[in-house]
Formats: sequence, C-alpha cells, structure tokens
Amino acid sequence: MAALRLGDTAPNFSAMTTEGQIMFHEWLGDKWGILFSHPADFTPVCTTELGMVSKLKDEFDKRNTRVIGLSVDPVESHHEWINDINETQNTTVNFPMIADENKYVSSLYDMIHPNADDKLTVRSVFIVGPDKKIKLTLTYPASTGRDFNEILRALDSLQLTTSFGVATPVNWNDGDDCIIVNSINDEDAAKKFPKGFKKIKPYLRITPQPNK
Ligand code: BEZ
Repeated sequence: MAALRLGDTAPNFSAMTTEGQIMFHEWLGDKWGILFSHPADFTPVCTTELGMVSKLKDEFDKRNTRVIGLSVDPVESHHEWINDINETQNTTVNFPMIADENKYVSSLYDMIHPNADDKLTVRSVFIVGPDKKIKLTLTYPASTGRDFNEILRALDSLQLTTSFGVATPVNWNDGDDCIIVNSINDEDAAKKFPKGFKKIKPYLRITPQPNK
C-alpha cells in the first residue's frame, strides 16, 4: 500500500486500546486528532514521551484535539507500563494507547520502516482534521524523542491557517504576525485584515494574527 500523504483520508480502523475497543473515526467525532506511534513499552524515551503527552492534556483539550498512542505491544503490557509512566514521570496517563499486536494499524499507517526496524514502529505522528483528512505527518527514529511543544505549535498553525487566509512564517508561535496568502490580492486583504498589513514584497505581506 502506498504511504499516506497530506490530504488523504486517515484510514478508519477498529482497535483494542487501554480504554477499550474503539473505531477510530467515531472516537475522533468532530475533533482534531493526533495518532502517534512509539517503538515499544518499557523503554526509556517512550516513557518520557508518554508522560509529557499526559501533562499536555489541557493544551490538547484547548485545541479541541484527541490524542492516541500506539505500539505493537499487548494491552496488558500497556497497562503495566502505564504504572511506571505515572510513577517516574509524576503524572497520570490520560489518553488511550492502541495495542497493535497484529500490526494492523501500524501497517495501515506505514509505521514500520523495515530498514530501521522490521518489528517495531518508528515514532510516527499523524495530525488529522475534523474532516478526517491528514493535515501533518512526522517521522522520527526510535532514538530521538519528539518535541510535543512543536506538535502543539504546528497544531496551532494548522487550526489558524485552515480558518483564515494566512500562512505562518518560520519559527511562528501563537500570537505572532502571520503571512497573507498570495491568492488574496491587496484590495481583498485590506478588507479581510482590518488590522492592516505590511507589504515588504508583493509576495510577502505581514499582518497581525487575525484571531487575536
Ligand atoms: C526508547 O523509547 O527508549 C527506545 C525504544 C526503542 C529503541 C530505542 C529506544
């Protein structure tokens, strides 16, 4: 199966999780979603990542976003490991983890990269919009833990840029100035962005973040 690309529909699936059996699309409802894989239970980098995701629950909630983890370990192992995550990361795991023992979901989402490891998932991230389309993907190797603040930052950009006629520049953070997309001419930009804009070049026009 070809790798999933931006704009593709995130494949639906049924899976066993630490919070029971789910159907992915129904579980997402009308929210944004983040599906992320980690290589294996009882491993150090994964332990820190899952602790951090738990601590960021309020941030995901604020962004109307549900988060779900995945590894190819069984659900009993996930439950045992969660005790360790809670203990060592000073948190309470508050999101479901898929027990993808038969590798069905990891195959569907191409999360096993055999030249890196033929048995375990890499660190994949899929951000899915309320329309169930894939909006962003990331792939990290097992040895490199992800920066979930960057994932929140990218989510802020995705949610802003799908609703307003802007794009976000390098190192943008919520509240920073934005770029007016080139499909909007100056006349329409003046109406659409009442805070005004600075025209540095015809293709580079900067405006304060429209929803702030
Ligand atoms: C880890 O989470 O620490 C890890 C998992 C698999 C391979 C290497 C590191």
